[in-house]
Amino acid sequence: MKQSHNSTRYNYDRLSRWYDWFASSEKHFTEIGLRMLKIQPGEKVLEIGFGAGQGLVALAHSAGETGKVYGIDLSEGMFQIAQAKIARAGLSRRVELRLGDAARLPFEDDFFDAIFISFTLELFDTPEIPLVLGECKRVLREDGRLGVVALEKKDCRAVKIYEWFHARMPALVDCRPIHARKTIEAAGFELAEASEEAMWGLPVEIVIARKYG
Ligand SMILES: C[S@@+](CC[C@H](N)C(=O)[O-])C[C@H]1O[C@@H](n2cnc3c(N)ncnc32)[C@H](O)[C@@H]1O
Repeated sequence: MKQSHNSTRYNYDRLSRWYDWFASSEKHFTEIGLRMLKIQPGEKVLEIGFGAGQGLVALAHSAGETGKVYGIDLSEGMFQIAQAKIARAGLSRRVELRLGDAARLPFEDDFFDAIFISFTLELFDTPEIPLVLGECKRVLREDGRLGVVALEKKDCRAVKIYEWFHARMPALVDCRPIHARKTIEAAGFELAEASEEAMWGLPVEIVIARKYG
């Protein structure tokens, strides 16, 4: 079900104050993805769709004082909540946030060592996903890593039930399961590692891939 960027922005602006509580069951999977991405001190990292900023704080700790973390999100509400969380953690000098659409990344080519996307790729309309991954490829350096955490589209009962709700309440149940690994490989990345987890019976795919060529 396609939602306009305006309605996505509006929904996340409204959700932002409660997002940490609302999305608490997703945190565990985001943490697994962050661990698998293995950010090193000194690296330059981008998080796309940073939400309330949980990932940004972890990334900034891993990248250390010599590294730098950038984030981009569509929602002004999320931007404010994440910025406050980063300030409280004393990490403002290590993190730079942008408000904008990830389909057009405001960064130069070959800039990042790694990119992290958690429960966000599923929000893009199907034809837009390759565009977002193409932008990731452009701004990643050669051999740079992409880490994606996403609901996985599989032929199982839990996915069918979830999709039923998504079709009827797209503003509330907005992420939809996708074929993350296949789409990432089709966008020209090389698979480095993948893990399949389950969240309330729903399959969650965690994929680490590398840019080549
Ligand atoms: C489901 S939340 C996930 C937040 C965070 N990654 C997490 O795992 O807790 C999706 C986030 O993506 C952002 N988002 C949605 N569409 C976007 C777009 N086109 N460009 C940038 N961010 C977007 C939303 O504003 C929201 O903060």
